[in-house]
Amino acid sequence: MKNTVATFKEAKQKGEKLSMLTAYDYSTAKLIDESGVNAILVGDSLGNVILGYEDTLSVTMEDMIHHGAAVSRGVKNALLIVDMPFMSYQVSVQDALVNAGRLMKEGRAGAVKLEGGQEVCPQIRAITAAGIPVCAHIGLTPQSINAFGGFKVQGKTESAAKKLLEDARAVEAAGAFAVVLECVPAKLAELVTKEVSIPTIGIGAGNVCDGQVLVYQDMLGLFSDFTPKFVRRFAEVGQTMREAFAAYDRAVKDGSFPEKKHEYTISDDVLEKLY
Ligand code: KIV
Repeated sequence: MKNTVATFKEAKQKGEKLSMLTAYDYSTAKLIDESGVNAILVGDSLGNVILGYEDTLSVTMEDMIHHGAAVSRGVKNALLIVDMPFMSYQVSVQDALVNAGRLMKEGRAGAVKLEGGQEVCPQIRAITAAGIPVCAHIGLTPQSINAFGGFKVQGKTESAAKKLLEDARAVEAAGAFAVVLECVPAKLAELVTKEVSIPTIGIGAGNVCDGQVLVYQDMLGLFSDFTPKFVRRFAEVGQTMREAFAAYDRAVKDGSFPEKKHEYTISDDVLEKLY
């Protein structure tokens, strides 16, 4: 069944958990969509796991549109959320609206996600007023990594915890249909989850959130530059791939691949005429 923002609302009301995974290409999106997850996020984490950058700051609108459109062709049932990249919404509400529109029209998104709390509420209000669903993202917001001074758990002090709670209330009031809570203490995430009527989607925020999101390379063991504490490896696909690539290399070099069954034939009559 097609997931929409209404599915998210209903899940929160019924106390049903929501699942979300990232995807960046058609084939993977198709596999993830078939698994039954509620949402697929084309995250700007593609800067790390696809493009090999150290952070997400260099990701462009063109990158997000390119990967969003590819993923959309593989998605039937999940709600497709596409991240607004760094500096595509911070400068002005007009920029935010134009770029959110491009992610919907060209990137084929069903919703957009942007990072920040009270400071981006004018943008959330304008985008939702244009009929574009917005998922907010608070806590550890990787686009602000330089301001945070590194990847650190957020909301640990009284003032930071109060701000996180206020941010969650503010993005809800501005019209966000869901809010991602990244790297926040589980008890604080629990409080936020009780305080807001929109679903909280946790990543490193404990299991009381209304849903969870992971970067698929992390949960499959495909990305080993760094592994955050909150990741569970559901499979060791990276190791399987390493072994398969090495087996291919050996088979090509020892002549055991390709075999007869992999060949195309030509009639002897045609062949004889070539000599
Ligand atoms: O870019 C991303 O993948 C994200 C998730 C980690 C929530 O924002």
